[in-house]
Amino acid sequence: MERTFLMIKPDGVQRGLIGEIIARFEKKGLKLVAGRFEVLPEDRVMEHYAEHKDKPFFPGLKAYITSGPCFLMVWEGKNVVSITRQMIGATNPAEALPGTIRGDFALEIGMNVIHGSDSDETADREIAIHFKPEEIVSFEKID
Ligand code: CMP
Repeated sequence: MERTFLMIKPDGVQRGLIGEIIARFEKKGLKLVAGRFEVLPEDRVMEHYAEHKDKPFFPGLKAYITSGPCFLMVWEGKNVVSITRQMIGATNPAEALPGTIRGDFALEIGMNVIHGSDSDETADREIAIHFKPEEIVSFEKID
């Protein structure tokens, strides 16, 4: 079964958007199979955002992502990576369409509410960074 890693960032947690965001994915028919609150430790931030570590925005990104608890999740479903990317919307909320999570709830690229893996390979890598296999549950979903 296809899986992806989604993370509600500190601004999304602090603004009380966890329920709204989870409801959107559940109503779509996707299945939440792991979830946990966590203030990300520095080593995991470096691993997760390794491709951005030399970018000018990285110090700000690191400060923001560790400013409070994130809500880390694994979701399962057919085409889950591309479907959740569509539902999340463009990285820059100014370009995210209304109806997407960032289009509806975010204004700035520096505080864009949620992260979603951008490919199946990235999803495998990010799930392995943040979750142990035994933290991911298995159950039958009734549609
Ligand atoms: P995310 O989907 O988590 O992947 C990388 C993150 O870096 C992105 O969301 C933004 O939060 C952040 N980011 C990307 N580009 C910029 C930028 N130009 N300025 C600030 N933050 C950025």
